Amino acid sequence: MEVLSLRRVLTVGMTLAMVIMLRAEMGNASGKMHYVGGSKTSWGPSNVNLTEWSSHETFYVGDWLYFGYDKYQYNVLEVNETSYEKCIDKDFIKNITGGAGRDVFNLTQTKTYHFLSSGGYCFQGLKTYWSLGENRI
Ligand SMILES: *[C@@H]1O[C@H](CO)[C@@H](O)[C@H](O)[C@H]1NC(C)=O
Ligand SMILES: *[C@@H]1O[C@H](CO)[C@@H](O)[C@H](O)[C@H]1NC(C)=O
Ligand SMILES: *[C@@H]1O[C@H](CO)[C@@H](O)[C@H](O)[C@H]1NC(C)=O
Ligand SMILES: *[C@@H]1O[C@H](CO)[C@@H](O)[C@H](O)[C@H]1NC(C)=O
Ligand SMILES: *[C@@H]1O[C@H](CO)[C@@H](O)[C@H](O)[C@H]1NC(C)=O
Repeated sequence: MEVLSLRRVLTVGMTLAMVIMLRAEMGNASGKMHYVGGSKTSWGPSNVNLTEWSSHETFYVGDWLYFGYDKYQYNVLEVNETSYEKCIDKDFIKNITGGAGRDVFNLTQTKTYHFLSSGGYCFQGLKTYWSLGENRI
């Protein structure tokens, strides 16, 4: 009798532990928010060394990016590698610019993403790129 109830307690306990672990994994699957440049206002040419910043970040599919900046000066465009290297802002892949200076972007593919700002700011260093790691979990 007592052995049986102990077993039941253990079973319930293990089920609970599994539920908690599952919760935690689901929490991670929903993704981490990366503030590009490290803060809510650091998408700007002189604010931060974006190369330095991205070298300390790991990106996964399902993560989110936050570009926060002065909407009167900068914008956010996703471009290909060639355009990134040469700071070409024509024929971009995607215009991320929403208009408010607070743009959120979800990373949906395992690939290398390149972003820059048009208006000449790319030449001053307002661009960033990174590769996505394998899926978390
Ligand atoms: C979820 O991801 C964060 C950041 O990558 C990590 O610190 C944390 O340990 C992860 N949690 C679990 C339960 O894997
Ligand atoms: C930014 O950081 C990278 C990597 O640490 C470095 O190579 C580069 O010279 C830095 N750029 C500037 C403008 O300081
Ligand atoms: C990148 O985009 C530019 C501009 O649209 C285009 O000329 C170039 O061929 C593209 N390069 C690659 C490798 O797709
Ligand atoms: C990107 O989209 C924003 C908002 O719709 C728009 O104001 C802006 O002109 C676009 N930029 C480019 C380069 O197309
Ligand atoms: C980002 O996620 C939202 C909902 O989570 C979805 O509506 C949107 O289409 C996604 N954007 C991209 C570029 O996949």
